[in-house]
Amino acid sequence: MHLSYDSRVPARIDTPVLVTYVFEKEGRVEGTLAQLDQAAQGKLSRLVESGELTGKTLEMTLLHDPPGLSAGRLLLVGAGKPEKFDGTILRRVAGAALRSLRAKGVTRMTFLLREGERNAAGAEAVAEGLLLGSFDSDFYKTEKKNGKTMESAALAAGEGTSAAQIEEGIARGRVIGEAQNFTRTLVNEPSNRLTPRMLADRAEQMAREAGLAVEVLDENRIAELKMGALLSVAQGSAEPPRMIIVTYSPQNAKPGAPVLGLVGKAVTFDTGGISIKPSEGMEKMKYDMAGGAAMLGAIKALAALKPAIKVMAVIPATENMPGGKAQKPGDVQFAMSGKSIEVLNTDAEGRLILADAVTYAKKLGCTHLVDAATLTGAIVIALSNINVGVFTNSDEWQSKVLASARRAGEKMWPMPLDDDYRDLIKSTIADMQNIGSGRGGGASVGAAFIREFTDDTPWVHLDIAGTAWLDEQKPYAAKGPTGVAVRTLVDLAMSL
Ligand code: BES
Ligand code: MN
Ligand code: ZN
Repeated sequence: MHLSYDSRVPARIDTPVLVTYVFEKEGRVEGTLAQLDQAAQGKLSRLVESGELTGKTLEMTLLHDPPGLSAGRLLLVGAGKPEKFDGTILRRVAGAALRSLRAKGVTRMTFLLREGERNAAGAEAVAEGLLLGSFDSDFYKTEKKNGKTMESAALAAGEGTSAAQIEEGIARGRVIGEAQNFTRTLVNEPSNRLTPRMLADRAEQMAREAGLAVEVLDENRIAELKMGALLSVAQGSAEPPRMIIVTYSPQNAKPGAPVLGLVGKAVTFDTGGISIKPSEGMEKMKYDMAGGAAMLGAIKALAALKPAIKVMAVIPATENMPGGKAQKPGDVQFAMSGKSIEVLNTDAEGRLILADAVTYAKKLGCTHLVDAATLTGAIVIALSNINVGVFTNSDEWQSKVLASARRAGEKMWPMPLDDDYRDLIKSTIADMQNIGSGRGGGASVGAAFIREFTDDTPWVHLDIAGTAWLDEQKPYAAKGPTGVAVRTLVDLAMSL
C-alpha cells in the first residue's frame, strides 16, 4: 500500500473517500469537523442532531456525494470519549476505516487528521493503523473473497501543519507497521511452509534487505556448541534445528553501552512431542514461533530507525515432534551452560530451547535480555488474551520494558517470580526439572526455569501465548497473528 501526504485544504481534496473521526457526546461539530460541516452546508450538524452520528468507538457513518466537498464520499469513524482518546484508538480508527472501505471495494482513501493530532505522533499512529489493518491471513486462498486491496492512502491535516512532521510520522509508522506485518506473515505460515530451515532463509533474506548481519548455526554447529537442551527438542524431528542470529551494529555505539539481546522462541510446530497434545486445536501450534518472529520484526524496524545501541536477535528454531528418536519423559539432558535437566514433560519444550539461547546470547556479549515466547497455556488462564505476562530477575530492567509497553500501547502485566518458585523445579536426579512439581503457577514456573540460565544478566521474559494470536477478527485487525511485542521492543531499543 502506497502512503503519502496530501497538503491540500480538506474540502478540496478529490479522493474517492475522505475519512475522519468524531468524538462521542461532542454535541456539536467542532474544529476540523466544523470546517467540513460549513463546506457541506450543515449536513454534519444535522446528522448529529438526528442522533445517527454518535461518535461511539468505531461507529461508521458513510455519506455519499457530500455537498461542498471534492471527495466522492465522507466516512466518519467514531473515536469514543475524548478523554479516553489516545494513539491506540487513533490506530484502530485508521485500521477499521481501511478494512470497512476495502470491503466495499474502495482502493484509494484519504485520512484527515483533526486539530489535536496534526503532528508526527498522529501521523505515525494513522500510517501504522492503516498498514496493520491491511493485513489478512488468507495467504493461500486461490480465489480471494474480496480481490480488492487498498492501493494507496493519503494523510491530510489541513492548514497550519508542518509537512515535515507529518512526513516523519508517516515514515516511522510505515517502518513499524511493516515490521509488525513481517512478523505476522511469518507467524501465519503453516509449519510445512515454515520449517526451521525456511525460517532461517526468511531471516537471511530480511537481514540482507535491511542491511543487517546474520548468522545461522546448523545442527552440527549447534552440537559442537553443546546446546543439548535445544538438540533434545529437535531430535524427534526429521527437520534439523537452526540457531538464527541477526545483528544490528551502529557505527556510533558508545563503549560500555548496553547490548540488547532479543531472544525469541521459534518452535515452528509444537505437537508436544511424546507428551503429545490433544488433536483438537493442535493446528494452532504453528504459531509457537511467534516469539522468534517478533524479534525478527523488531530488529528489521531497528535497522531503519537506527538506535545508538547494538541489538542482537537470537532465535532457537526447531519442531517439537514425537517419533522413534524423540526424547522421552524422564530423560536427562545437559544444557549449553553445563546444567542438567530432567525432562519430565516433552511439551514444556520452549523453556528448553530458550535455556540454550539465553546462554548463547550472553556468550555473544548481550548485557540486557528480553525473551518473547508462546510459553504457557497458564498465562492464558491468568491474563486471558488481554495482557502479555511479564517476568524478570531485575525490577529496574522490567520497569523500562513496561514503560515502553505503555508508550507503545501494548498491554503487559508484571507477574511474580520470587526465589520461592525455584523450589518447584527441584529434581531428584538432575539440577532441575522442566515442569513444576504441583499444578499451580505454570507461567511463573516456566519463567523460573529460564531464569536459571540468566545468572545476573538483567532479563525480562514476555509470555505471549495468549496475545500472539487473535481468535476472532476485530474491525481493525484480521483474525490470526497480532505481531505483539514488536512495538514495545522497538520503543525499548530506541529509548536505551
Ligand atoms: N507452546 C505451548 C504453550 C501454548 C499453549 C502456546 C497454548 C499457545 C497456546 C508450550 O510449549 C506448552 O506446551 N506448554 C505447556 C507446559 C506444560 C507442559 C508445563 C502448557 O502450557 O500446557
Ligand atoms: Mn509445548
Ligand atoms: Zn511450545
